[in-house]
Amino acid sequence: MEYDRNLFGEIERFVKIKILDREYEVPDRLELLRVFQFLDFHIDYARLCWNASCQKCFLEVDREGGSQKVLACRTKSQESMTIMKLPPTIKAS
Ligand code: FES
Repeated sequence: MEYDRNLFGEIERFVKIKILDREYEVPDRLELLRVFQFLDFHIDYARLCWNASCQKCFLEVDREGGSQKVLACRTKSQESMTIMKLPPTIKAS
């Protein structure tokens, strides 16, 4: 996959994460909102602030067997992360 270095910086390694039961390889330690951009998901740019103010990027990740709500613009990708629910502002492609 080709990517824009200006958007994602130097990618040192990729990790496997799951989004809605599908597995993806994405850059490690990248904000999830950028991960969705990397994956070419549909992002409602007009409604998202990208700086933790609007609160419209909450998604649910699986943490220690339970779900936890986190902000996509403030949470970084890591190996084996499982995203169980996306916000209405982001659609998988
Ligand atoms: S994009 Fe606004 S809080 Fe995350």
